[in-house]
Amino acid sequence: MTVKLLLDRKREGRELAPDEIRELVREYTAGGVPDYQMAAFAMAVCCRGMTGAETQALTEAMRDSGTCLEWPAGEYPPSADKHSTGGVGDKISLVAQPLAAACGLAVPSLTGRGLGLTGGTADKMESIPGYVAALPLSGYRRVVRDCGCTLTVQTAEIAPADKKLYALRDVTGTVPSIPLIVASILSKKLAEGAGTLVFDVKCGSGAFMKTREEAAALARALVDGAKGAGRKACALVTMMDEPLGFAVGNANEVQEAIDVLKCESRASDVETLSVELAARMVSLAMGTPLEEARAECRRKLECGDAYRRFVRMVELHGGSLEAFAKSRLADATAADVAAAESGFVQSIDARGVAEAAFLLGAGRARSGEAVDFLAGVELRVSRGDRVDAGSPVARLATATRGEVLEEAARLVRNAIVIGSDMPAPRDLVLEVVE
Ligand code: URA
Repeated sequence: MTVKLLLDRKREGRELAPDEIRELVREYTAGGVPDYQMAAFAMAVCCRGMTGAETQALTEAMRDSGTCLEWPAGEYPPSADKHSTGGVGDKISLVAQPLAAACGLAVPSLTGRGLGLTGGTADKMESIPGYVAALPLSGYRRVVRDCGCTLTVQTAEIAPADKKLYALRDVTGTVPSIPLIVASILSKKLAEGAGTLVFDVKCGSGAFMKTREEAAALARALVDGAKGAGRKACALVTMMDEPLGFAVGNANEVQEAIDVLKCESRASDVETLSVELAARMVSLAMGTPLEEARAECRRKLECGDAYRRFVRMVELHGGSLEAFAKSRLADATAADVAAAESGFVQSIDARGVAEAAFLLGAGRARSGEAVDFLAGVELRVSRGDRVDAGSPVARLATATRGEVLEEAARLVRNAIVIGSDMPAPRDLVLEVVE
């Protein structure tokens, strides 16, 4: 294979053969293709796109760059996972995965660390003292066998080609390309081995995909790719113009997820979406009619089974919820944000809230940086609430960056739009792709 000729053809918009793509990925992973050539390839794909066959070849090549896991019937219950493309305040996995496990599924969820504005599930879980997200494969399997679900950080053994290529895309302006995103997400999820995949494709100011058309196209491509690889799959396109729930950060999001699992939360959007995604996993994996699966999920939430799964999962990962409760009382500098005027909350811009949480230390600009577990934004209001000028609409916290509180407060105040009329209700789920 001559990489230069292959790049010429891709730049001209011609289709590459599956074998050529496989060899390119193999050589890149082994270090035989330099980053500058792979960056040129990624840019050519961004500009020219890929056919379905090319995307499938890229996905499979990246999947096969590392270990592919299996969850054999007989040893494990039917396996399923849900994957979100990433949103602000997105703590859904913390609720939906134990909930699906409580309904009888094996949920071997490999999750990521945050990079950029939105936090990663692995970081959120590690705000629980003692919780180890990076388990060896043997430990990861043991947790799934013992409690039905896990939130383990993706290891270097799973789809290493994606790890390398994603880091390169991140610094070469080549992230927003549907074929590259599909290959990146699917290679990891297929290597993880779950038989059913449910995608939550976020759409709006706090998401990768800003428009409904882009989000629906990504959802379609993910579902087709997963089905093409022999999985059961569906996707929900969901609203991400506003944060999910009230908490945006790390420890505060874990607390909100715990409150939802204990049926003690006001965050009805987090509960609704968690139940919907878990029900879709159960319905597809077990063949249960969707309405029955929804009812089963509601029962498992209300009777405490889902919460007990979560507690067990945390214990098996070495975490202590008792220490977590104490750590939440630890020193953080906090400040209230007051409403700029009286009226009804019209909208809360997810991007603005995420920028504030990031500034406060809840995210990381570079991989490997530490995150401030106590940093974040706690909204006090949601869309449609009536507020008086000067009343508190959010609380900010940071353990490490007290000097940015004023700037973060400005971002949150601007994100909360107040007007005189009650806003119309909006749908959380915009579209279902099957
Ligand atoms: N998430 C991924 O894992 N990969 C992408 O390319 C985009 C989002």
